[in-house]
Amino acid sequence: MSKGHTVQRTPNWSLQQLPEMDAEQFHQWQALLESRTGVCVNDQRKVFLQTSLCARMRELSMADYQAYYEHVTQGPTGAIEWSALIDRLTVRETSFMRHRPSYDAVTRHLQAQLAGRTQERPLQLWSVGCASGEEAYSLAMVSEEAMQLAANKQPGYAIWATDISLKALEQGRAGQYPGSRLGGLTDTEKHQWLRAGDKEAFEIVPALRDRICFTRLNILDMAQAPIQDLDIIFCQNLLIYFRRWRRRDLLNLLAKRLAPGGMLMIGLGEIVDWNNPLLERLPDDRVQAYVRRDTNGRLE
Ligand SMILES: C[S@@+](CC[C@H](N)C(=O)[O-])C[C@H]1O[C@@H](n2cnc3c(N)ncnc32)[C@H](O)[C@@H]1O
Repeated sequence: MSKGHTVQRTPNWSLQQLPEMDAEQFHQWQALLESRTGVCVNDQRKVFLQTSLCARMRELSMADYQAYYEHVTQGPTGAIEWSALIDRLTVRETSFMRHRPSYDAVTRHLQAQLAGRTQERPLQLWSVGCASGEEAYSLAMVSEEAMQLAANKQPGYAIWATDISLKALEQGRAGQYPGSRLGGLTDTEKHQWLRAGDKEAFEIVPALRDRICFTRLNILDMAQAPIQDLDIIFCQNLLIYFRRWRRRDLLNLLAKRLAPGGMLMIGLGEIVDWNNPLLERLPDDRVQAYVRRDTNGRLE
């Protein structure tokens, strides 16, 4: 392909077989993905990378990995194409209340926070790598529950839901899910928080949707995000795709974003041998959660 950013299209490409990616091409794409997103595609996931790239290349009628690589890495059109490709390359598997013990621990924590609270500022929560929104809506449901139990103390709450994939965020904002995707919810939760939507789908009630701000954030660019003083940071099934040193670095940055007494919830076993002087691990083997000490080093 020429350096002039013109995409060379191969006639009838969709009818041809997928080309096999050679080792050099694999390493080139592997490195690009990791440097831009942190996601590390190991050799066992080469087929995933190749299939995802080919699916996108088919849409563009392109047949050559090198030509597509140049297309993606050059100029403003490359940036736009990268954004479309990311929707293919990210694993966006998720569900409501995906790990119930984690949500139970969040509910208990919020209740305790509300009980001892002296200030009126709204609670702030963050779903990091929110995919299509189920995690953020699950957090909204448990926040509502905590508020109801807190009787008179209802300072309100707001949830940030961030992801690198624009398609995921679009789905999250829409808040529409087919019945088959509601498996993690109890019947009571379904009745309380969903109503019949378009076609066969169910939609999240406005009372929850209005609490959530879906916004694009590459977690590697966290320094640019004005999100801080969090009462809950919920980051599950994102760091598992990253190298261990990067997981530690990101967790250390997330720890600084917590308000005193705030909780960082990650997936069970997503990191071992990590601790941070600001945090204390919650003594509950069913979850991997850390609570930020107050300014005097005490747990609130
Ligand atoms: C497997 S999903 C996890 C969804 C949800 N947290 C859960 O546990 O069900 C991982 C999400 O992380 C997002 N992701 C991957 N790399 C990212 C990055 N560098 N910054 C922000 N989000 C990223 C993906 O787009 C995807 O939606």
